[in-house]
Amino acid sequence: MPGQTFKLVVLISGNGSNLQSIIDHIQAGTLDARIMAVISNRADAFGLERARAAGIEALTMDPAEYSSACGFDHDLAKTVSRYQPRLIVLAGYMRILGADFVDRFEGKIVNIHPSLLPKYKGLNTHQRAIDAGDSEHGASVHYVTCELDDGPIIIQQRVEISPQDTAATLQKKVHQAEHRIYPIAIQRIVTGEVNFNRIKTES
Ligand code: GRF
Repeated sequence: MPGQTFKLVVLISGNGSNLQSIIDHIQAGTLDARIMAVISNRADAFGLERARAAGIEALTMDPAEYSSACGFDHDLAKTVSRYQPRLIVLAGYMRILGADFVDRFEGKIVNIHPSLLPKYKGLNTHQRAIDAGDSEHGASVHYVTCELDDGPIIIQQRVEISPQDTAATLQKKVHQAEHRIYPIAIQRIVTGEVNFNRIKTES
């Protein structure tokens, strides 16, 4: 909507290089959004420092302080809601969000996954692609639904797997692809070019 700030809340667990790419694109004017807060489930996530360096509110919510995953998700939802985001961006958030959380924000959560979904859901995607003898691998941005790494795909980028590639070198290539496509995917949602309900019907 013209004139309205498209608010994001970003959830992270670690390095936050995808967060950095989003911050950079916002600062460069190629992504018309504003990050209201970055929330990490780990206090030592470097992404928190990246957020603070960019003047963004950065907070930690520690699951160990909760007696159940459900209780944690409930508080997370409350905290996220305070910022009234149009979109919740998972950028290396390494906790599975419960069904209540996902239902509450249906169509408003996106994730980036290091594989060409539906291939290689879950972890260790780079090694699995090499072990399978694949010639290509990549990254996917998708809407989050209750099924892990399974929601409608917004954008993907392929990278070539060369015979010399190790999981580490492949991860580097995939990261570069991720940093390119995540801001593009979010911008398409901002402009309305991509919409969860439309994508759901089409797929
Ligand atoms: C990325 O590879 C992303 O696909 C996965 O977690 C990693 C996060 O990296 N979900 P970073 O924290 O953004 O550097």
